[in-house]
Amino acid sequence: MVKVFRHHAGTGSHGRVWSRVILSLGLGLFCATFAHALPWNDDMYWQPELEAGTAARPPVADSVPTTGIEPPMSSRITERIKAGLRVRNPAEPTPQSIQNGEGLFRIYCAMCHGEQGRGDGQMVGKVVPSSDLHTERIRNQKDGYLYATIRSGGLVMPAYQHALSTTERWDLVNYVRHLQQQGARRDQSQ
Ligand code: HEC
Repeated sequence: MVKVFRHHAGTGSHGRVWSRVILSLGLGLFCATFAHALPWNDDMYWQPELEAGTAARPPVADSVPTTGIEPPMSSRITERIKAGLRVRNPAEPTPQSIQNGEGLFRIYCAMCHGEQGRGDGQMVGKVVPSSDLHTERIRNQKDGYLYATIRSGGLVMPAYQHALSTTERWDLVNYVRHLQQQGARRDQSQ
């Protein structure tokens, strides 16, 4: 009797173990299916985060970038004139600088100012008024004025403060001067 009871008890406990295993597997599968439907898998996305491009820590007060700092400039005409008197062109108009400026001019400026700076780019008449860079007024402006215009923009002209480096902007000034000299030479020989 005892033997039989033990035998039955043994089978019974095995059966319970298996049914528990199957039940938990089933429950696991059931939960996994629903877990996918719940918005749990995007909580990495919704975590607190810094906006793209913001520094984790602001720079120490009065720290200066290794490329140096520029005096404040704005697109206001009076400010650009002031910059013209204050800022000196540090880039020698070497063939290298002019060549670099030419490449940049084709990419960033020719669509409005035209390849030769005559104010006949493809955008003229559509969204922007024409701006000839060979006029006497612009030829007589200081390098710093041209630089400030490229850096901070004009009334219509966009600012290139973030798109171009300081050196690239001075190379562009040198190239605009080069175009003006070429233009003046051509005008004289006509
Ligand atoms: C979207 C068209 C557009 C683009 C691109 C553009 N400019 Fe201009 N630019 C103008 C217009 C319009 C003016 C006339 C003045 C204004 O906007 O206030 C001007 C004026 C100027 C002036 C003379 C400032 C004055 O007092 O009139 C210079 C120098 C100049 N641009 C250089 C550049 C250079 C260099 C680039 C390329 C980095 C460039 N521009 C890109 C539209 C443009």
